[in-house]
Amino acid sequence: MNKETLLDIDNLVRDWLTTLDDIIPQLIKQMVTSTKKNRFDLVTNVDKSIQQNFEQFLQQHFPNHQLFAEEKSNEGIQAKKGHVWVMDPIDGTTNLVKQQEDYCIILGYFVDGESTLSYIYDYPHGKLYKAIKGQGAYMNDNLLQQPEDLKLEDAIISFNTLVMNDDTIHDLNDASFGYRFIGSCGLDSVRVILGQFGAHVNTNPKPWDIAAQFLFAEELGLTMTTLNNSTLDFAKAGPFIISNKACHKEMLTILNSGSGYQK
Ligand code: IPD
Ligand code: CA
Ligand code: CA
Repeated sequence: MNKETLLDIDNLVRDWLTTLDDIIPQLIKQMVTSTKKNRFDLVTNVDKSIQQNFEQFLQQHFPNHQLFAEEKSNEGIQAKKGHVWVMDPIDGTTNLVKQQEDYCIILGYFVDGESTLSYIYDYPHGKLYKAIKGQGAYMNDNLLQQPEDLKLEDAIISFNTLVMNDDTIHDLNDASFGYRFIGSCGLDSVRVILGQFGAHVNTNPKPWDIAAQFLFAEELGLTMTTLNNSTLDFAKAGPFIISNKACHKEMLTILNSGSGYQK
């Protein structure tokens, strides 16, 4: 795809994201929460409306593009063929419901399986992170620099303690400078993208949780792999780490030591 076409798509998507600034406050005012698999697995009218809205946007501007997203059935979608948008309409729904803060919209645009455009929109803080293939990563149009090397002993790291065994949690805490967890895979990853965290681990993400991170990692010299240090498949997802280059190896060694990280 040539540069002009890519920038045209980027302009349209950014315009669409701007429309959310008017829509989200209204949706939050009338928030309706329901549960999915269990009482901690939440979805709201905000998630559903944002996704429907984006679906309409695609139908209007790019009718041949497919949408692979959390709040719909994705049966029959061939994620690695043609133009595919992977979307998490709200990542951090628990945060949205309980705190009205620390949630984001994740969008990854793949062309024949190749990550081409990425967005993580931190709406509550008015920060749009985007990456364009071959043209770098940005925060509200400011070019982001590759984070400096962070050794694990100097790094804050992030993971969900509820799904990791106690020995691994202790070992990670001993080896790192400190621990923080936001509770939004997109925003925990943004901390790594900005060089604030050394690494973020999610032991069970879905494609929409990690769709945008591939291109940020590529453009900013970060390492994004499975927890076995192999290549991640965006269409399948599974246990993943996004990490500063300088602490990736040590993180994986700890995660895989003993009987592994599984609870
Ligand atoms: C969840 C969040 C959370 C992560 C879970 C995700 P959701 O996404 O990103 O931080 O630990 O694995 O499912 O349900 O809020 O979109
Ligand atoms: Ca999510
Ligand atoms: Ca979600």
